[in-house]
Amino acid sequence: MIQGRCRVWNICIAALIFLTAYNVMLTVKLMYTQDCPKHHSIQKVPEIIYEKCNKDIEYIQDEIYSNLNLNLGRWDNQHKYKLFDNFLVGKKYTILSDLYETCLATQGSLEKLPSLIEVAHNWNGPISVATFAASEEELNALLLYILYLRKCNEKIIDKVTFHLALAKERKPKQFNIDTQKLKELKCNNPTEVVQHLSKNLQKGSNQWRSRLPYPQNHVRNLARKNCQTRFTFLTDVDIIPSKGMAEVLDAYLRENKCKDKCAYVVPTYEIDDRVMFPHNKTELIRLANKGLARPFHHKVFIYNQFATNFSRWQNTKDETEDVHISHPVTNFEFFYEPFYVAPDVVPPHDERFIGYGYTRNSQVYEMYVAGYKFHVLSPIFTCHWGLQVKRSRPPWREHQNTLNRKLFDSFKKEVFARYNKDPLNLIKPKKN
Ligand SMILES: *[C@@H]1O[C@H](CO)[C@@H](O)[C@H](O)[C@H]1NC(C)=O
Ligand SMILES: *[C@@H]1O[C@H](CO)[C@@H](O)[C@H](O)[C@H]1NC(C)=O
Repeated sequence: MIQGRCRVWNICIAALIFLTAYNVMLTVKLMYTQDCPKHHSIQKVPEIIYEKCNKDIEYIQDEIYSNLNLNLGRWDNQHKYKLFDNFLVGKKYTILSDLYETCLATQGSLEKLPSLIEVAHNWNGPISVATFAASEEELNALLLYILYLRKCNEKIIDKVTFHLALAKERKPKQFNIDTQKLKELKCNNPTEVVQHLSKNLQKGSNQWRSRLPYPQNHVRNLARKNCQTRFTFLTDVDIIPSKGMAEVLDAYLRENKCKDKCAYVVPTYEIDDRVMFPHNKTELIRLANKGLARPFHHKVFIYNQFATNFSRWQNTKDETEDVHISHPVTNFEFFYEPFYVAPDVVPPHDERFIGYGYTRNSQVYEMYVAGYKFHVLSPIFTCHWGLQVKRSRPPWREHQNTLNRKLFDSFKKEVFARYNKDPLNLIKPKKN
């Protein structure tokens, strides 16, 4: 009886020892995996892990110190912002610019930069990214995060070239990279890292931040004008191109017969956070039919994309899987702001519009007045994560919008004077 109990006891001890050892082993393995994992894919953030993890930190840092001199840079036309071109250059950026017809020009603030991982995963051509920092603290966080992305993601270090805008009003005198932190930041959670970095910034900065708006059009021009290819595809950084778009788009553009004033619209959908990124148009339409995808801004502000005519795009049967024109935009209306591909001779983004409101649609409006024709391409598309619903906007955003609405009054008169056309009848006819 006693003997029997002892045996059970021994088995228990053995099992306990085994489990403890196994646990220790798993923990060690997990720690190792987090430190420098080889292949790992995270839901919706594929291939974040750069194999040569941590190896190039010194090199990565030296580059920024030799390329970014805050005492240099060029001023914008109003002497409000200082612009720094190409302060970090993708290792293959110039080669890719020779190989591809189209460069993806994009922009976004620190909080949105994690999207770049997915963008670089889907877009194989060169990528030109412009961003903005509103203070020395924000600049340090921004640079740290960009270096982190370069440390962790091979596609970003290869393809992406970065540009920077700083505001004169709060121009940093210097910047500092926290090397130790850069080494320690784990590669497997880019979203958490950005939240951690921007959390501290938000405290206390809300007051001056509302006075110092994000210069959307400056950074758009900065990204556009640093593209080296024949065509430019301008987006915001959280707009994700469909997989492999650069190649199939190039094949179309090489055959492109349009000689004058064509812009090619790539339809944009917003998709439910719970789905996988659609592989192709068929899958996207399947999501749309289930209510898991819909035209971008459909609920927030329908005019934003309405003229693209999504029902026509969805209902037109594609005769080929090659990129082709689905249909022309026939009902252009004010407030239309599609993401389009065009040679970068289109009108600039007017830098009087700072912050929210009239930034992109004023540029598209000028294109329309100038006689550009918009053609909607198929079967390529872009997606924005999350089905958006109308929310009340913060007061500072309304304020910026009001200021820009006033500026638009003079802008539209200038556009009228420049082209002598008023196709949307925005200039009221004089009546006696
Ligand atoms: C679209 O993707 C689905 C799922 O990956 C695949 O089964 C289908 O064959 C694809 N369709 C086309 C036209 O490529
Ligand atoms: C969309 O296309 C259909 C024809 O397929 C047309 O009747 C309709 O007016 C178009 N709508 C817009 C907004 O362009």
